[in-house]
Amino acid sequence: MQVIIFDNAQQVAISAAEWVAELINKKSNPVLGLATGSTPISLYQELVNKHKAGELSFSNTTTFNLDEYLGIDEINAQSYRHFMNENLFDHVDIDKSKTFLPTCNQGENPRAQGLAYEDKIAQAGGVDLQILGIGANGHIGFNEPTSSLASRTRIKTLTQQTLDDNSRLFAADEFQPTLAMTMGIATILDARYVLLMATGKNKAKAVKDMVTGALSAVCPASSLQLHENAIVLLDKEAASELADQEYYIWANQQNLKINQEFGLYHNY
Ligand code: GLP
Repeated sequence: MQVIIFDNAQQVAISAAEWVAELINKKSNPVLGLATGSTPISLYQELVNKHKAGELSFSNTTTFNLDEYLGIDEINAQSYRHFMNENLFDHVDIDKSKTFLPTCNQGENPRAQGLAYEDKIAQAGGVDLQILGIGANGHIGFNEPTSSLASRTRIKTLTQQTLDDNSRLFAADEFQPTLAMTMGIATILDARYVLLMATGKNKAKAVKDMVTGALSAVCPASSLQLHENAIVLLDKEAASELADQEYYIWANQQNLKINQEFGLYHNY
């Protein structure tokens, strides 16, 4: 895992946007894995800014989101489709027919829908770069603690902690879904690169478990320890419970030197 610690959340977003821009500018048909939640909003803002400045075109990009709620349709303001439209898709030149979320509408077979989503990702050539946030309980996507490390796209029942954490986004009398379709942990690990963003003190414990805890389904994000190209972008608060912070800062300086000398090499 490459752990990079920044002074603040804005720097995390700027760095994440550079990773995305590098992929999109380098590859003719890039496939981007996207995440929702509060954390990546500033990344999407940076990408919109780059697009408006004429630096970035999404016209050849295909996207796959990690997850989507069940029981609400896509025009519902709480749907992740709506979130993606509002925060990114409506402001850039992406072809929306190439933007996918793992949906399962009423009457559809969730198992078939999950398999179909996996097929669609495979047909697109696999995800080049998967953006991730992390839940305070260590979840990635909606893979809650004890999710199989070999899991594929399927329905998950949300934990009470996740429901409580996300309740801030719902009005008191608004329906809050308790089920979601999510890429599985194995689906996420298939991405060529994974880029996890975490900011704020409330993520510090999950970050510590992910980076230095045991590989365990109890902390789904610890599965990234198995990934060859996992990059973890943190602000100081999210990094605050990590031992050896100086080591990560020093190691990153060495990586920057290598990049300066030999250029970036990302094998997309
Ligand atoms: C949500 C999403 C995750 C996200 C996480 C953290 O429920 N399913 O993909 O990473 O919880 O969200 P936030 O960035 O708002 O803290």
